[in-house]
Amino acid sequence: MNYHIVTYGCQMNVHESEKIAGILRDHGYTRETGEEEADIIVFNTCCIRENAENHAFGNIGALKKLKRQKKGLLIAVGGCMAQEEGKAKILREKFPFIDIIFGTHNLPALGEMIERKKKQKKAVVEIAPERAQTEDGIQPVRTSYPNAWVNIMYGCNNFCSYCIVPYVRGRERSRRAEDILAECRDLVSAGYKEITLLGQNVNSYDSDGQGGMSFPELLDAVASVEGKFRLRFMTSHPKDFTEELAAVMQKHAKICRLLHLPVQSGSDRILSLMNRRYTREKYCSEIALLRRYLPDCEVTTDLIVGFPTETEEEFEETLSLVREVGFSSAFTFVYSPRAGTKAAAMQGQIPEDVQKARIMRLVEAVNAQTREKSAKYVGKRTEILCEDYDAKKGLYLGRDEYGRMGYFADKRSRIGEFVTLKVTEANGISLYGTAED
Ligand code: 5AD
Ligand code: SF4
Repeated sequence: MNYHIVTYGCQMNVHESEKIAGILRDHGYTRETGEEEADIIVFNTCCIRENAENHAFGNIGALKKLKRQKKGLLIAVGGCMAQEEGKAKILREKFPFIDIIFGTHNLPALGEMIERKKKQKKAVVEIAPERAQTEDGIQPVRTSYPNAWVNIMYGCNNFCSYCIVPYVRGRERSRRAEDILAECRDLVSAGYKEITLLGQNVNSYDSDGQGGMSFPELLDAVASVEGKFRLRFMTSHPKDFTEELAAVMQKHAKICRLLHLPVQSGSDRILSLMNRRYTREKYCSEIALLRRYLPDCEVTTDLIVGFPTETEEEFEETLSLVREVGFSSAFTFVYSPRAGTKAAAMQGQIPEDVQKARIMRLVEAVNAQTREKSAKYVGKRTEILCEDYDAKKGLYLGRDEYGRMGYFADKRSRIGEFVTLKVTEANGISLYGTAED
């Protein structure tokens, strides 16, 4: 039997879809296909911004005809949006043809829900509140060789005032260090060349929930696993960045010289309204500390424009921070009010045209900086881990440890190999060149 998974949102969701594929495989769905051929279609949704939700609603709605035509086709909707307060009801009313709705905490039960649905006419809905359990025991179907993702913790306690994640993913729970280490060792033995440790807030990792192994200690332990591989981690919160983390990064060449450290805004007043618990000055001092340990480390970030009450001057503080820190790239977002969060109820929501004008200026500033930084690579060498083939371009591609995408031509597949790229051209975050060996 065939399956098709549609994923929205972040890396966390991409990896969760690999776990969904693992569950489906254990229940007889062995081949991934397009939606026309599928016997089950699973939507792994995201609700972090309104447009991600609208996108999912549109795509689910578009399946009405296929569902009517194809007897036996199952449609399941899971992930953050399904977990959102009141959303399961709306989904059922709007799309009565949905067979299964499962929340973020109910993913491990998906297999059993499928079996139940096959025996009953009524939709199966499970959006029970979080379980303390963090070991789901699911063997993911990994789809990104030579890269692999490993969850180290789930949930978030930070309650940034704009963010819905703590509501839909629950409180922080860390996996046991020995389980994480065993998974990483297995991945390296299986030939994976890059491991990314995942968590909403990796710096809060606490192996036993009582001040056991900390994140820098865990990172040190994973980086000490034998074998040639690269190590990345995301996402970090600036309020928890420590010198110890910078020191561990310096200690291991395996840890990529790239820190993704979302700052969100360059204005202290907005940072405080966002409940971020650091100032611009504190953030900049962390970057300075990081660069004392690792002078060549690149920093990327997330930025939000148009947060309630943000003035033109405050927006410009975000622009000036982009230059001050020298981010090599950034994810830029227009603030999106999320029901139930503090910010959604704030006075002074910013009109859409103002938000649009600000995001355009920000994107231009970030892109200009990215181009400027990439241009410096021309004529130099950088080691990339070849991860894919771009059929349209007819080129192999992979990232270097600084997060830049490198493209090159080759007669044979280099996927899974570390390749020295001699850079001849730069375009945005992408580098083009020739493979040296
Ligand atoms: N509106 C816009 N961006 C948001 N993010 C989280 N919540 C919102 C929201 N309501 C962004 C933040 C976060 C990233 C994952 O998504 O920048 O770091
Ligand atoms: Fe959301 Fe803030 Fe938690 Fe990140 S740290 S998931 S932005 S609440």
